[in-house]
Amino acid sequence: MTSSITLEIERSPRSLWRSPSLTPSQPPSELMVEDYHQPVLVDEIVKLCQDLATGVVVDATLGGGGHAAAILDNVAHLRVLGVDRDAEARAAAASRLTQYANRSRIASASFADLGAVIRANGDFIGDSPVVGVLMDLGVSSHQLDDPSRGFSFRFDAPLDMRMDASTGETAAELIARISQDEFVQLLRANGEGRYARAIATAVRAGRPATTGDLVALVEGAVPIPARRRGNVATRVFQALRIAVNDEERQLEDGLQGAFDALAPEGALMVISYHSGEDRAVKSFLHELSTGGCHCPPELGCVCGAIPLARILRASAVLASPGEIASNPRARSARLRVGWKLAR
Ligand SMILES: C[S@@+](CC[C@H](N)C(=O)[O-])C[C@H]1O[C@@H](n2cnc3c(N)ncnc32)[C@H](O)[C@@H]1O
Repeated sequence: MTSSITLEIERSPRSLWRSPSLTPSQPPSELMVEDYHQPVLVDEIVKLCQDLATGVVVDATLGGGGHAAAILDNVAHLRVLGVDRDAEARAAAASRLTQYANRSRIASASFADLGAVIRANGDFIGDSPVVGVLMDLGVSSHQLDDPSRGFSFRFDAPLDMRMDASTGETAAELIARISQDEFVQLLRANGEGRYARAIATAVRAGRPATTGDLVALVEGAVPIPARRRGNVATRVFQALRIAVNDEERQLEDGLQGAFDALAPEGALMVISYHSGEDRAVKSFLHELSTGGCHCPPELGCVCGAIPLARILRASAVLASPGEIASNPRARSARLRVGWKLAR
């Protein structure tokens, strides 16, 4: 199986993680909060928010609070409920949003549970409508750059990769639990075609405990020319991260919960970074915009389906060349937007 996946930005897999010159990242309390994560497509998100009615925007992937701060800075009629399942992200965002304490609230939760989160924060939301939900998917730069989290092959660290480090299975535990076929399937679904079986065999047999162990096993499983072409370790790390954090199911539940929470004319704004995620978002919004109608276009709709949303446009919004030059992470960003229709 060949891959059409657009990979999340990581540096060259070969040997970087071994480099002693890389400085471990600081904990959020010692970081300039702006350094935690440079958000993408900020102007586009702010413009969309300026057109929303007065109410609450749920930032379902708060991260370091960059998007939330931009919304609060520029759109006086909005308040923000920020959600993240990573304690370090919530701490960084809390520090960034102190000046907006009366217009913001931070919740510890997964966006898969958005309905419950909104109900639990009813005292903050009050009678205000939820006029927007923002989902900026994937991991933050801080998560990738923190050597202790095990997200990156650039640092040798325990093989963890959990966004919520307080619960669930680490990547090392997942590798020890899943079957050979499940591992191969995981790698293939995330873009590793040719060497998926060889990698799965070597990694399962080697039982890696650290990111360094994993890189060595992956490198040992693929021929040298394939290693030189790079990206094999990137794909394996991304596949494991997605599985450890149950990202596919979380996204499915998160999209539905977000749409259910929106008031009529509210906007669902989703930024994704790889093709699997973008396909899921596109198809979710498309189904809403057609009301689930699958009548042949040449016949017109005869099934009576009722559209539930209108979408910004068929293609995703991309970052400008200028933004990509100043923030390489923006290169793979795809923004899709849908507005809930009044019924
Ligand atoms: C790309 S970062 C968001 C950055 C943020 N927009 C900013 O301006 O700093 C993605 C964030 O979403 C969080 N996240 C990912 N999946 C999540 C989920 N299912 N529920 C809650 N937070 C999640 C991650 O922990 C990470 O902090």
